[in-house]
Amino acid sequence: MQIRENYSLKGLNTFGLDASARYFCSLHKLGGLRSVMQWAQEHPDLAVMFLGGGSNMLFVDNFPGLVVHVRLQDREMLGQDNDYVYVRAAAGENWHEFVRWTIDQGCAGLENLSLIPGTVGAAPMQNIGAYGVELKDCFYELQAVDWRTGEIREFSLEECRFGYRDSYFKSVEAGRWLIVTVVFRLPRNPQWKTDYAGVREQLDGKELSARIISDAIISIRQSKLPNPAQIGNAGSFFKNPVISPQQWAALKERFPAIPGWQQDGGVKTSAGWLIDQCGWKGKRDGDAGTYDKHALVLVNHGEATGADVWRFAQGVIASVQGRFGVELEPEPRVIQNAA
Ligand code: EPU
Repeated sequence: MQIRENYSLKGLNTFGLDASARYFCSLHKLGGLRSVMQWAQEHPDLAVMFLGGGSNMLFVDNFPGLVVHVRLQDREMLGQDNDYVYVRAAAGENWHEFVRWTIDQGCAGLENLSLIPGTVGAAPMQNIGAYGVELKDCFYELQAVDWRTGEIREFSLEECRFGYRDSYFKSVEAGRWLIVTVVFRLPRNPQWKTDYAGVREQLDGKELSARIISDAIISIRQSKLPNPAQIGNAGSFFKNPVISPQQWAALKERFPAIPGWQQDGGVKTSAGWLIDQCGWKGKRDGDAGTYDKHALVLVNHGEATGADVWRFAQGVIASVQGRFGVELEPEPRVIQNAA
């Protein structure tokens, strides 16, 4: 195991921000974990961060601790029962390549989650979702290492406490558990989910299969969302806010076109729509801005710093708050040192 100092993370975050880690190492094999943990124990004052594909991070500042880049690789078909096929993948596998591999194996279930940037291990952290499907719909269990003790534990679906872009690992015990493998259960008789706006039109009467749906999702995403290899971004920058039925009714009266979906605990509205209405779509301030085809995606046009993107995000938050009285919550993890 090699610990590097002042290591650039520019190529390891999809915003393409020029931040660095005070200390950095790559974890290719689970066997290497013990020496990393030992090093961390000898440096108890340093914070530790596990980094996957860096697709949900905003580095406003450099990270003053140890970044462990999780690169564990492995995919395996585990077997099947009457209803499901079980597959396992290691945390460092690229998410989209894993999805396409399951399709190549004749499996279905993950096709709507095609082309989401990031890794398998990061996917449960925020219960990734798109086009009517969330990771939890195909999740069976995961294995994680307790960073405090080195113990490996299994977490069931219930124990992961998945919510909208949320999990136990994100909100309850952030930083304690390193996810090492994830097991999915994929239905042998899949129910295709093609009702999301735009998906059915894209499928255009074709005979449905996981591959056909995956291809359609890829083409929708490519038409709406920027490719991080070309324009730095972290996907949706804000969660879609859930507001009270009273606030919803008041807004609907003033803004009849506002989109809304009933949820437990309120009405979910569209952050993209709110931001668009405030005139932010395609706007930029220096190299920080919103994507011209989707107001919810903040982008780095080249040389923006994390602080530039964060300042831009504050402007968006303030104007949505001012016009609609709705508070937007950032979706990516914001790395910012205390002032
Ligand atoms: N809209 C606008 N202007 C815009 C963009 C969107 O008015 O510039 C409105 C439209 O009314 C549109 C609605 O917002 O119908 C919803 O837009 P879209 O279908 O693109 O979905 P979203 O709610 O903006 C969510 C996820 C995406 C996911 C898509 C598709 C969140 C925060 N985002 O976006 O996830 O790909 O649905 O399922 O839940 C991500 O998390 O990084 C991500 C990209």
